[in-house]
Amino acid sequence: MASLHLGDTAPDFTAPTTEGDISFLDWKGNSWAIFFSHPADYTPVCTTELGRVAQLSDEWDKRHTKVIALSVDSVQDHNAWKPDVEEVAKATVGYPIIADPDKKVAELYDMIHPGEGNTSSVRSVFVIGPDNVIRLMLTYPKSVGRNFDEILRVLDALQLNDSGPFATPVDWRPGDRAIVNLDIPTDAAMELFPDLDVVKPYLRYTGATSV
Ligand code: BEZ
Repeated sequence: MASLHLGDTAPDFTAPTTEGDISFLDWKGNSWAIFFSHPADYTPVCTTELGRVAQLSDEWDKRHTKVIALSVDSVQDHNAWKPDVEEVAKATVGYPIIADPDKKVAELYDMIHPGEGNTSSVRSVFVIGPDNVIRLMLTYPKSVGRNFDEILRVLDALQLNDSGPFATPVDWRPGDRAIVNLDIPTDAAMELFPDLDVVKPYLRYTGATSV
């Protein structure tokens, strides 16, 4: 198993899901994608996480982003557990959950970590761009639920980065000023962004962005 890095093309696979068999990259198309794993069905933290992702369906849509979950449980288990998730979250799980009992996909994406038990996936998140390039990877231990508001924030930041010569500073939120990348000299940056705030020659902010 080769480990994945930022900038790699997301490996393709076919797998059974709660929405039928899928071929991952065909399913994804040219959308953004959030591919996330959870350790097991019928567990408390996972129930809250999959419910939160369901509650955020409008937010994923606004960002042209498809979401897909994975655990090493069967399709039957996923389908039997899903009503619990929906009842707790008061939201419909409208995204597929991959069944990976033979761990083929979890191993392909390095979602099984020995320190966290060999038998199930940790809480991995991959943000994959429209061109299928891996743009962000996160790994949380089984005992810590993820913050999907942060995943939305990262998506907004990545989409802003792609829209112009921008990076985002610490704790950036949509609507905050962005940093103008260093490959734009300050004279040129001032022409492009008349509000340019030059804090240091290498730290220049503009509010002239939109997400
Ligand atoms: C949970 O989702 O609560 C959980 C799953 C596996 C191990 C520990 C916690």
